Amino acid sequence: MAIPLILALLTALIISIAANPSPVTFIFGDSLTEVGNNNHLRYSLARSDFPFYGIDYTNRKPTGRFSNGRTISDIISEKLGIPSPPPYLSLNPDDDVVLKGVNYASGGAGILNDTGTYFVQRLTFDDQIGYFEYTTKVIKKKIGWQNGTSLLHNAIYFIAVGSNDYINNFLQPFLPDGQQYTHEEFLRIIDMKLVEQLTRLYLLGARKMIFLGLGPLGCIPSQRAKSSTNQCLHHVNEWVVQFNSKVQKLSKVLNSKLKKAQLIFVDTYQDGIDLVENPTKYGFKVSNISCCQVETRVGGLCLSYAHVCNNRSEYVFWDSFHPSDAANVVLADRFFARLYAPSNSSTNSSSNHME
Ligand SMILES: *[C@@H]1O[C@H](CO)[C@@H](O)[C@H](O)[C@H]1NC(C)=O
Ligand SMILES: *[C@@H]1O[C@H](CO)[C@@H](O)[C@H](O)[C@H]1NC(C)=O
Ligand SMILES: *[C@@H]1O[C@H](CO)[C@@H](O)[C@H](O)[C@H]1NC(C)=O
Ligand SMILES: *[C@@H]1O[C@H](CO)[C@@H](O)[C@H](O)[C@H]1NC(C)=O
Ligand SMILES: *[C@@H]1O[C@H](CO)[C@@H](O)[C@H](O)[C@H]1NC(C)=O
Ligand SMILES: *[C@@H]1O[C@H](CO)[C@@H](O)[C@H](O)[C@H]1NC(C)=O
Repeated sequence: MAIPLILALLTALIISIAANPSPVTFIFGDSLTEVGNNNHLRYSLARSDFPFYGIDYTNRKPTGRFSNGRTISDIISEKLGIPSPPPYLSLNPDDDVVLKGVNYASGGAGILNDTGTYFVQRLTFDDQIGYFEYTTKVIKKKIGWQNGTSLLHNAIYFIAVGSNDYINNFLQPFLPDGQQYTHEEFLRIIDMKLVEQLTRLYLLGARKMIFLGLGPLGCIPSQRAKSSTNQCLHHVNEWVVQFNSKVQKLSKVLNSKLKKAQLIFVDTYQDGIDLVENPTKYGFKVSNISCCQVETRVGGLCLSYAHVCNNRSEYVFWDSFHPSDAANVVLADRFFARLYAPSNSSTNSSSNHME
């Protein structure tokens, strides 16, 4: 029953991507998709505007991307044939450039407002939506209400958020959420907040929203380091699977409640697991430690004095949180494969859908 609906939505989305070769894209998220907003937050501790970040990026320059090269959103933009949208805070917010798409993502950001508070400054998902709201006003002022509304309805909204609600909130023993709530309670809070946020985006004109599910966070080097034998943390992965399932259900509910919503949840969890468990299948050699040798217990980012591995394409992880450029290429490929092959990505969720 739900499958035809999902198929119809996907078909509509894919047709619109095909019909509109350079879609305007608005990106929301965390360090997995940030392209430099935090460089403009003077006191933010969640930043990557120093070497060796960007060592494989254009001109080998750090840009504020949490990667040795490109982020997954850069690669997805490349595949869509559009330039990666610029960071909102680098723009004059009233300039014409906002008509071509904006990236609001910010390292340390979460769905919940109190996620990542110890980074001092970051744009939470609420903050990002707030800036987007301003952008919608600028767009309508520039090209008129009707054309602006049409631009907003036809744009693609790429949303990748939630990892920090675990890494930099629920999983941190010194923050209240992990102590106060069971995981089930925590998920309920996330669910309510996300419904509010996605509805707000919808009311601002977003229709074609793609939510990228979480990867196997229990297998990122910073989490493995908590295991005495450097293994993936299974309970963390189980929580991630529950999160993904929750957001998938929520997407279905919102699509039926909000008449014109085309919210699509793309689950690449299994792909992440496969990449970590069978790195050689994808041309990698190492997936259990990061290329940049970081002290996972203090920070986990790749600092300027760290030792960097010889061949960065052999490592799935760049630092103890983020995939390498090479791994992002694989993940972006899998993302498109899932997006264009809904029968596969919905296989597991179909049981959830058919209740
Ligand atoms: C979000 O959290 C900050 C503190 O980090 C607080 O000052 C602010 O009022 C909160 N905003 C909302 C909408 O809860
Ligand atoms: C809106 O779009 C139409 C068709 O593309 C165009 O003729 C018109 O000038 C636009 N209006 C504004 C205010 O830009
Ligand atoms: C990483 O995995 C390899 C096998 O692929 C193993 O030999 C090595 O000991 C592991 N390293 C750590 C730190 O877990
Ligand atoms: C680096 O690793 C990749 C993937 O294993 C391989 O294709 C490439 O030849 C290596 N480059 C060098 C310089 O060893
Ligand atoms: C779809 O699933 C089949 C069987 O599990 C698999 O062989 C195929 O590679 C999958 N296709 C995609 C695009 O994931
Ligand atoms: C469905 O879930 C099971 C267990 O979680 C997993 O082993 C399997 O690969 C999944 N299938 C797909 C198509 O994602």
